Amino acid sequence: MSKTLLLLHGDGIGPEVITQVERVIDVLRVSHGLSLNVESALFGGASIDACGVPISDETIARAKSADAVLMGAVGGPKWANAPRDKRPEMGLLNLRKEMEVFANLRPAICFDALADASSLKRELVAGLDIMFVRELCGGVYFGQPRGIDVLPDGSKRGYDTQVYTTGEIERVAHVAFELARKRKNHVSSLEKSNVMESGLLWRQVVTQIHQEHYSDVVLEHVLADNAAMQIARAPKQFDVLLTDNLFGDVLSDLAAAITGSIGLLPSAALGEKGKPGLYEPIHGSAPDIAGKGLANPLAAILSFEMALRNSLEREDLADLLYTAVIAALNKGARTKDLGGTLNTSQMGDAVIAEL
Ligand code: IPM
Ligand code: MG
Repeated sequence: MSKTLLLLHGDGIGPEVITQVERVIDVLRVSHGLSLNVESALFGGASIDACGVPISDETIARAKSADAVLMGAVGGPKWANAPRDKRPEMGLLNLRKEMEVFANLRPAICFDALADASSLKRELVAGLDIMFVRELCGGVYFGQPRGIDVLPDGSKRGYDTQVYTTGEIERVAHVAFELARKRKNHVSSLEKSNVMESGLLWRQVVTQIHQEHYSDVVLEHVLADNAAMQIARAPKQFDVLLTDNLFGDVLSDLAAAITGSIGLLPSAALGEKGKPGLYEPIHGSAPDIAGKGLANPLAAILSFEMALRNSLEREDLADLLYTAVIAALNKGARTKDLGGTLNTSQMGDAVIAEL
């Protein structure tokens, strides 16, 4: 039975990079026997403009009943001053929460062909292959109460709540330990247990899950600020990095930068086994380059690769696509972010030529 993929092109460079994924899908269909229903829906600013909300209930329902959802990017200056519930980013947070995709896998891999594109010295990044497991449905982006209150003297008070329950920490920790077993068997759990209560609970729960189920895996606890320094200094010491929502957001951008370009990195957000996954390039909507053909489509193409692997049961095609991306890079295909001259669709051509 064929699987269903819901595409959410979104805003900024989102539509351009997802268009390249659609071209890849067509090739896999025609030449490699991929059978896939591809649907699309409005999302983010595009959805606000058309129907007043960043994601409609109908789109959320379709996302939950698909096998996988692939989104481009959301947000842009046009909607930046709108009230929070009318902002594109809220559509994404709602979608993650509604789909309950609590474990966000963000690989940071330095492809050999690109080791010189990194801001770090070649020897520090060549061969880098680390994986963030970012908690995605809890923490300070969702905690209540939150708000901006007006104080009696007329000044204001803005606040958010960082909060985690045992269950929320346990389920994402399981994902990190299971993944480590298939990799280098090493988990670094990041928090600020020295100053935060939620960080202390995080450390206690991860320690307990480790002792009960995964004593064969090496676990280290690293304070998140120290982890930032270590990622910038010697990133290859890591394998799987387990983080909360906020630290994972920040540190995965740092890790992306040292691999050469944020335009390269995909992500997979997964929930309970058998539930649909949400796949997204980790770059944003990049409004400054949108519509100019400057965007690198590889992060979106590799996000589709993760969907083939994790939700669409076509690991064979995932391998094929991954190999095609590496081959295109090895032959020198480069978009502008990597110092090259190819535009977005020419980079798509380069991958398709390898397929
Ligand atoms: C990310 C982004 C999102 C986040 C935004 C767009 C809501 O920064 O996926 O890293 O904060 O999670
Ligand atoms: Mg981010």
